[in-house]
Amino acid sequence: MSGSRIAALGHHQPARVLTNADLERMVDTNDTWIRQRTGIATRRIAGPDESVTDMVAAAAAKALAGSGLQPGELGMVVVATCSAIDRCPSIAAQVAARLGVPDAVCFDLNNGCAGFCTALATADHTIQAGAARHALVIGAEKMSDVTDWTDRSTCVLLGDGAGAAVLSTTEASGEIGPVVWGSDPARKDVVRLTDAWQPRFSQEGQAVFRWATSELPEAVELACHRAGLTTADLAGVVTHQANLRIIESLTRRLDLRADVVIARDVVDSGNTSAASVPIALSKLVERHELPSGGPVLLFSFGGGLSWAGQVVTCP
Ligand code: ACO
Repeated sequence: MSGSRIAALGHHQPARVLTNADLERMVDTNDTWIRQRTGIATRRIAGPDESVTDMVAAAAAKALAGSGLQPGELGMVVVATCSAIDRCPSIAAQVAARLGVPDAVCFDLNNGCAGFCTALATADHTIQAGAARHALVIGAEKMSDVTDWTDRSTCVLLGDGAGAAVLSTTEASGEIGPVVWGSDPARKDVVRLTDAWQPRFSQEGQAVFRWATSELPEAVELACHRAGLTTADLAGVVTHQANLRIIESLTRRLDLRADVVIARDVVDSGNTSAASVPIALSKLVERHELPSGGPVLLFSFGGGLSWAGQVVTCP
C-alpha cells in the first residue's frame, strides 16, 4: 500500500480588505474590542460576482501549476465548504470542468470548519487504497454570503477565500499522518447556519471557546502520537484560524520547540471556516517560513461540533 504527500499548495483571497475601522461604521463595535477578543485586524470579502467556485478555481489552478501535473492526472477533486449555495453540480465538478480535468471523482464535503482536514484525510485514504494516484483538495468559503451584517457578535469574525492542496501518491511511507477526527453531536447546535433559505452564521461563542481551549490540546497530542511524534518534534502548527486567543492558549499548553512556526493568519484574514487551514499553510510555504520536509500539525474544528487534524510533511 502506498501513501500520499502534499505536492503543492495554492490559495486565493478576494481583493477587498474590510478593516475594523470599516466595521465601526457598520455596527456598534470598535477596533480595541475586536483586536483584544479575537486578534483580527482585517478580513477579505468577495464581491457579488465572485463565487465560491471562482475562488476554488483560482486556488486550485495555482496548486495544480505548482505540482507540475496535468489536469488529466487527477483522479479526485474534493471541495470542503459549508457556505456554497450551489448544490448540484458540485463545486468540485464545476471546477474540474473549468480546469479541464477529464475523468475524476468530484464531490463536495461539508464538515464545517473541520472540512479541509477531513477532506485531506479522505483523499489520503483514497490514494492509500489505490483508488486515485493524485487528488486535488480544496477548502473554500464565502462566509460573507451567510453573515448577518447587522450582528456585531459575528460579522466582525468572518472572511472569504480558498486554499488548495495537490496530493500525490508516494511509494515511501505516507507523508500525511493518521487523522484524528470526531464530533460531539450533543453540542451540534453551538455553531450553526440558521434558516436553510437564507442561511446566517450563528454560534455560542463562549461555549465554543471553552470547548476549544479545554479539548484541543489532547486531540493535537494524539495526532502527533499517531504520527510517531511528540509536539516537541513539530516544525509548524497550523490550526483553525478562528480566534488568536484560542491559538495562543493552545500553543501555550503544548510542549513546543522555541523555533516552531505558528500560523496567525486570523489577524489578516479573519475566520474563513474550511478555508482557514489551507490558506494559512499555503501562505507560510509561499513565504518560505516553514522548513521543507518538516512535520507540520494541521488541526481544524467547528460546526458539528466536529474536529479533524493530522501531521503532514511540509512540501
Ligand atoms: N464589538 C463590541 N462588543 C461586542 C462585540 C463587538 N463586535 N461582540 C460582542 N460584544 C459584546 C457583547 O455584547 C458582550 O457585551 P455585554 O458584556 O455588555 O453583554 C461582550 O462584548 C462580551 O461578549 P462575549 O460574546 O461574551 O465575548 P467573548 O469574549 O466570548 O468573545 C468571541 C466572543 C470572539 C466570538 C469568542 O467567544 C470566540 O472566539 N469564541 C470561539 C469561536 C470559535 O472558535 N468558533 C469556531 C467555530 S465556527 C467557525 O469557525 C466558522
